[in-house]
Amino acid sequence: MHGLSFQGTTQMNRPTILTGDRTTGPLHIGHYTGSLANRLRYQDSHEQFLLLADTQALTDNAHDPEKVRRSVIEVALDYLAVGIDPARTTICLQSHLPALAELSVLYMNFVTVARLERNPTIKDEIRARGFGRDIPAGFLCYPAAQAADITAFKASIVPVGEDQAPLIEQTNEIVRRINATAGRAVLPEARAIIPKSGRLPGIDGKAKMSKSGGNAITLSASSEQIRSAVKAMFTDPNHLRVDDPGCIEGNVVFTYLDAFDQEQDGLAELKAQYQRGGVGDGKIKARLEAILQELIGPIRQRRAQLAEDRGYILEVIKEGTARARERTEATKRDVVSALGLFQL
Ligand code: TRP
Repeated sequence: MHGLSFQGTTQMNRPTILTGDRTTGPLHIGHYTGSLANRLRYQDSHEQFLLLADTQALTDNAHDPEKVRRSVIEVALDYLAVGIDPARTTICLQSHLPALAELSVLYMNFVTVARLERNPTIKDEIRARGFGRDIPAGFLCYPAAQAADITAFKASIVPVGEDQAPLIEQTNEIVRRINATAGRAVLPEARAIIPKSGRLPGIDGKAKMSKSGGNAITLSASSEQIRSAVKAMFTDPNHLRVDDPGCIEGNVVFTYLDAFDQEQDGLAELKAQYQRGGVGDGKIKARLEAILQELIGPIRQRRAQLAEDRGYILEVIKEGTARARERTEATKRDVVSALGLFQL
């Protein structure tokens, strides 16, 4: 089957994608709309690498290495369960790709602390985590490491959530500096692909859905967990009676319907009715719950099946990492020789 889909498109003429996730816990439906759905789309048209970013996960989870280790398998399971196909997409493990660490150290000389501190992603995260000046150096420098991830694969496309856009910008600054120093374009610049729908808020209406925030619906959620998450979802606090006019802005149920409802015409009608008055929250929640049960049900089932064969998951990661090692070592050699660094 896969042999067929490869006919006519060789590895050589497909643009390269690199993207990934920190291994800090199972993925949630925000990851699905934010990046997984795009990654599924690119499996045939692009040469795609997915990075299990366990090294980056440690930059703000060094106190809990056990969680980071355990989550490697969890995230890999999520990838496979949503339909990432290891025959078409290479799943690889960051900590086992030494070239990424070596390039990170090199790139830290091509970026200033002031620039790292100005990075909006870093700024937001420092604030959200309450680091202040006690920020781990590894965390401050992770944009340089992420630049290493992206460039080591010579990726031209990076499908990510919108919060990651400043990291791609910073990657390109480093790329331009390296290329200027080398006197030739040894590394390509990369373009972020960001879904139009924007970031999915948490079920409580907070800007960020996160497992640690307790406001996420994971891709492995049980049907009971889905039901109670939808029930608890933030709507319009002033919409007290069915007949009251309701507000759809900031109403999490409608934000999620915008992201997941395939019947956008029916949804537009429902929104108009809700705004006029006469539609209860129970009705809109029932619509959303049905959609989420239908989306997550098969993912959960497939995930449970896959989880029974840990050996297979490990094999997928091992094979992918071996393939990625070749690619990233080759780039490291290119960069070292383009910069004219000493080689024994
Ligand atoms: N920073 C990404 C996240 O928090 C994970 C990541 C690591 C990544 N390396 C990457 C994403 C390279 C895109 C490209 O989810």
